[in-house]
Amino acid sequence: VPVDPFDLVVFGATGDLARRKLIPALYHRLHDGQMPEGARIIAAARRDLDDEGYRDIASRALDEFVEAAALDEKTRDRFLRSIGYVQVDVESDDGWDALAKALPPADGRPRVFYLSVAPRHFGIIAEKVHRAGLSDSDSRIVIEKPLGHDLASAQELNDCFSGHFEERQIYRIDHYLGKETVQNLMALRFANALFEPLWNARHVDHVQITVAEKVGVEGRGAYYDEMGAMRDMAQNHLLQLLCLIAMEPPARLEPDEVRDEKLKVLRALAPLTDPESVVRGQYARTNGSPSYTEDVGHPGSRTESFVALKAEVANWRWSGVPFYLRTGKRLRTRVSEIAVVFKEAPHSIFPPASGRAGNNVLAIRLQPDEGITLGMTIKEPGPGGMRLTSAELDMTFADTLGATKLRMPDAYERLVMDVVRGDQTLFMRGDEVEAAWAWIDPIIALWDERGDRPISYDQGSSGPEDALMLMHRDGRRWREIA
Ligand code: BG6
Repeated sequence: VPVDPFDLVVFGATGDLARRKLIPALYHRLHDGQMPEGARIIAAARRDLDDEGYRDIASRALDEFVEAAALDEKTRDRFLRSIGYVQVDVESDDGWDALAKALPPADGRPRVFYLSVAPRHFGIIAEKVHRAGLSDSDSRIVIEKPLGHDLASAQELNDCFSGHFEERQIYRIDHYLGKETVQNLMALRFANALFEPLWNARHVDHVQITVAEKVGVEGRGAYYDEMGAMRDMAQNHLLQLLCLIAMEPPARLEPDEVRDEKLKVLRALAPLTDPESVVRGQYARTNGSPSYTEDVGHPGSRTESFVALKAEVANWRWSGVPFYLRTGKRLRTRVSEIAVVFKEAPHSIFPPASGRAGNNVLAIRLQPDEGITLGMTIKEPGPGGMRLTSAELDMTFADTLGATKLRMPDAYERLVMDVVRGDQTLFMRGDEVEAAWAWIDPIIALWDERGDRPISYDQGSSGPEDALMLMHRDGRRWREIA
């Protein structure tokens, strides 16, 4: 469904995020007929370029980041013609008049300001946009992590918009919420009557959330070394996934109803006071491949490239159900998965020789091979008597829906169009971001206090041994990352 014509101003338009994600996402939306004729993209950055100069950059970004099958010259041409460039220095007054001139009259067209810049510029841009009279009460502002590095800085960030933009105008991206399978999680939970009766402490043994990456810090060493896995991944992506699993059904699929429920989950997280419940790791030099400290060029760094933890949502629904979370870089493979592990059958009628019935596991696979599987115990086929074995009901979307033909859209495609439509459901509200930091901060403070180093792990492994122990101690185990 096409959206209304819009004006999108991208600050930091020559940067990595814009080239890698935004430009390709917008191209796809035009290609698929969702971005209408008359929509305008205004690229703004400090570099001295003209329209043609920026269009060259955008065109190269398409070659690099859009699959060849989706590139056709007619669409490319139309797309590039919808882009203009304005040289703006966000720290001075240079370029703001030109930006005002480049913007067509709002006339009810949604105006979106996408701040693809370092967070220290957020406040000043919001203020200048406002002062230059470029925004109205229908304008939107889009920002992205890092949304602070602790509670205090997150509050400061939230405050920097006040007076210029209201909460309903601020779109905080967590790109995990735009992933197809993550949205599917809501459909799975709230469009099927099957799971809800089981979705609680009586029937769920535990939940595992894994976001494993094969890549390292990829040229973002300076940023990453300041953040570490806890701030870079756990505070946002992992906790957002946890919220979607743990939240109560909202009454309606309305932005604030969904976000109210997620906020309640974040506020229900029990403080993590037991140091044994958190494991930090750092990848070591392995078979000649540089270590984390070598990658970031900081020999004594204590920053973690891996974190595993056991969280508890202290409310009626989840009391006593551990949520095990882990994420790390340079692990064996790239996989993001949520597994809801149900309790064993209460009583076994089978003789010991039949083997053990396993736990039913509902696994939601975010990437790669998006899909949902349900692990079951069945009888091993054959005349050998009653032997139990495990099998999976497998709904890999590519097979079930022919999704390879459909193409899985990138999270940004969905999210940018949601901004234009004015739908905040898949964006984090300021109080959610703050609640997440409020839970994370004491854990990091504890590390700082103890001053110990993260545990080394080999690249290509599944993380430090201690992370396995985190579950073994509870008589449970992580699912294989393969
Ligand atoms: C980003 C993190 O938010 O998410 C990166 O800053 C990480 O460190 C990335 O690599 C992972 O995203 P995806 O979509 O590739 O799983």
